[in-house]
Amino acid sequence: MDWIIRKAPALSCELEVPGDKSISHRSVMLASLADGPCVVRGFLPGEDCLSTKEAFRALGVKIERPAQTTLIIHGTGGRFIQPAQEIDCGNSGTTMRLLSGLLAAQPIQTRLTGDASLAKRPMKRILDPLSRMGAHIVAEGAQDRPPLRIEGAQLRGIDYTSPVASAQVKSAILLAGLFASGSTSVTEPHLSRDHTERMFEYFGIPLKREGLKVTINGGSRPQPRDFRVPGDVSSAAFWLVAAAAQPGARLRVNRVGLNPSRTGLLGTLARMGARVREFEHGNSGEPFGTIEIEGTALRATRIAGKEIPNVIDELPVLAVAAALAEGTTIISDAAELRVKETDRLAAIASHLTAMGVPVVEKPDGLEITGGQPLRGARLDSLGDHRIAMAFAIAGLFAEGETVITGTDCVNTSYPGFYDVLQRVCAPRSPGTPLVIRLEEEPADSTEA
Ligand code: S3P
Repeated sequence: MDWIIRKAPALSCELEVPGDKSISHRSVMLASLADGPCVVRGFLPGEDCLSTKEAFRALGVKIERPAQTTLIIHGTGGRFIQPAQEIDCGNSGTTMRLLSGLLAAQPIQTRLTGDASLAKRPMKRILDPLSRMGAHIVAEGAQDRPPLRIEGAQLRGIDYTSPVASAQVKSAILLAGLFASGSTSVTEPHLSRDHTERMFEYFGIPLKREGLKVTINGGSRPQPRDFRVPGDVSSAAFWLVAAAAQPGARLRVNRVGLNPSRTGLLGTLARMGARVREFEHGNSGEPFGTIEIEGTALRATRIAGKEIPNVIDELPVLAVAAALAEGTTIISDAAELRVKETDRLAAIASHLTAMGVPVVEKPDGLEITGGQPLRGARLDSLGDHRIAMAFAIAGLFAEGETVITGTDCVNTSYPGFYDVLQRVCAPRSPGTPLVIRLEEEPADSTEA
């Protein structure tokens, strides 16, 4: 379905967003490794996380789904069966990279495949360290691209310094390290999201953190524990930018994850002039709470260095914020964006240009001169969920009509995004508050 978007009045609402994608993947993995049942609530029913759930089912883990967002996972204590078929990771880099680490040490043979976008994503970054641990993984695609054929082997711990700040690389190594002899350490150039470390600790796996280095000892297994996934701050980012850039807009996002390795965009938007407040309401392995934001006329900023891994998934929508801000915003050190679901630097540059925004594309970033009115345009998602949603937000500020094509990909991370977009933009009589709550919906009967 194509999305048709027109200029909208200032947002004024309170909403919840679906479960965090990164945390949903990891909750299935850790619960599957535990020796006993765990209930996961708030699970993201997006296609990426469903790929992870199906992968563990194929590996012999019984997973019940009494509601769309609730899983009962009967962990097998780290013992998996030989899957009958290859494992399809769909569009999900997290599924493929993290599973590779885990499967490298299992006494089974597996083949991991994915869609056309995943088939183009680099795997050398996990093959190098996992091979050093003794893994037998063959990349069947050109230049170490998927599919991956994995033959379980006895692994040994390593002390690895990663050239990229990537939570997927770090997590693949730590998951392999659980099954390796001795200790395994990963040091990264900047801190990437630390959900795996937090979830290891929550599930009772001892772990040592020293600055940018994380170390675990082989042999520990997670203890069964129930877990609640908070809302995804990367999904909230679309509404936060929509509100931040409209003077008079007010938005509150409830029950959202507040892990500081993920909330960099709040600092970026505050630097651009928005009034942002966070209220932590609890911590059940991951901190969660409320974010409030008030819009303003934004001003340009610079996004670079160690801030980049913290806003890596928000850069498409932050680029839209830059297009709406007065002055030239400089994004650098962000070459990683070229190896996401699509080349996001190229996609952002071409789509902003189509909307009439002056952009200079650099090898590792963008220079975006904002402040001029945006022009509606017909833009393709390029199969990338975050490009589709970021430019839908741009459409709310553009003169004329913006059409986004190829929007099915949004189901990978934010099913229901377009419904929310229509609701927050619908005309309302003054003084009628809009509150969007996510209700637990029954799952398909086949999954009971
Ligand atoms: C993720 C890590 C990031 C992020 C991706 C999810 C994760 O990727 O962009 O959406 O869940 O570990 P990289 O590790 O490639 O930076």
